Amino acid sequence: MSEWPSTLPPFLWGVASSSHQVEGRQPGNDWLSWEEAGRTRGRSDDHIDHWTRYREDVALYREMGANASRISLEWSRLEPEPGRWDDDAFDHYADMLDATRAQGLEPLVTISHFTLPLFVAEAGGWLWEGMEEAFLRLTEKVVQRFSQVRLWCTINEPTVLPLMGYEEGVWPPGQRSLRVGLRVLSREIAIHERAYRLIKSIEPAALVGLAHHVVRFRPLVNTPAHRALAAFLHRTFNAWTIDHTKEVQDFIGLNYYSCRWATFRRPVNPFPNRRGVPLTQMGWEIDPEGLFDLAAWAARYGRPILITENGIATDDEDERARYIKSHVGALRRAAAGGADVRGYFYWSGLDNFEWAEGYRPHFGLAAVAPDGTRTIKAGAAALREEAAAGFALTDGRGGVS
Ligand code: FCB
Repeated sequence: MSEWPSTLPPFLWGVASSSHQVEGRQPGNDWLSWEEAGRTRGRSDDHIDHWTRYREDVALYREMGANASRISLEWSRLEPEPGRWDDDAFDHYADMLDATRAQGLEPLVTISHFTLPLFVAEAGGWLWEGMEEAFLRLTEKVVQRFSQVRLWCTINEPTVLPLMGYEEGVWPPGQRSLRVGLRVLSREIAIHERAYRLIKSIEPAALVGLAHHVVRFRPLVNTPAHRALAAFLHRTFNAWTIDHTKEVQDFIGLNYYSCRWATFRRPVNPFPNRRGVPLTQMGWEIDPEGLFDLAAWAARYGRPILITENGIATDDEDERARYIKSHVGALRRAAAGGADVRGYFYWSGLDNFEWAEGYRPHFGLAAVAPDGTRTIKAGAAALREEAAAGFALTDGRGGVS
């Protein structure tokens, strides 16, 4: 059943990021190699440098109205070579987490957010036979060392990684096989299950989950066949992974950005956009109702729901504010209808390196100049206002914190 510890803030208003996208000074991982091979729009560099400017950033997040921050750990820093643990990197993350807490921000920590150390990638990445043991060794180390963390996410977007890296081939390792992608997905699920049990054995009170990328699939034409196709895509892409991990999740983490349209048009593409509607810098359609639908649907799992990512890439700050308000509004309605929603993390606090798209999409609540100067954008006020208004929980208790 749904359980939310009274030691945590009743509602988390957060910003989300990941190591590779903001830290800079990356010593080397599979993404850096991918960038060097010219597979992205430009390469990641050090101008954001969250690795050294984290104190300033957590203060900024606080100013944005957040009481939580989602980050990820860069495995390649912690274990640069097999079995060699870098104590300085562990200490550095411990300082980062202390600074986060000192600002009154609850950390939610992702163990793996897409990047892999080179030794793992070169051995076969998620399909390497040693992957499970290597991931569990890492998990044990980080959970023992970072005891200030009460919210863990093992793997970010277990469906997106195989889709982009192993089926479409636009992310490392660049394979193009659905069959291989599905093997990766089942590997991730198996690893999550063991990592979940391991974390709970070390920190029984910690809440552990996954961040699932979910999409609202809508029938392009209102026919029974299109409706059936949309329902099939929902079952396959959204529900399958959650169904197969539901016993080993203390919260249901949802990353929601957009909707896609179910159509039989060729070439077959399960994720088509509509033509002629306004799209974000990512080419995604804005659909707050989708968040309502998916949060209301996820309530069936009987676990607290965290929106572990939601955000817009735009330079139009009115648009950003509308996006935040409409999506939080949709969540409020889902909660009023009975969904136990416990957190909303905006992606992202800072403009950052958006994987294959490089620095062009601007998701941040703050801009980062080439010299690293941060400037909070006008759209950030929307998060502050929503947080100040509080969040009425399903049981009627207020979530102002
Ligand atoms: C999600 C990723 C995150 C970021 C956003 C825009 O799929 O988890 O790292 O790139 O999309």
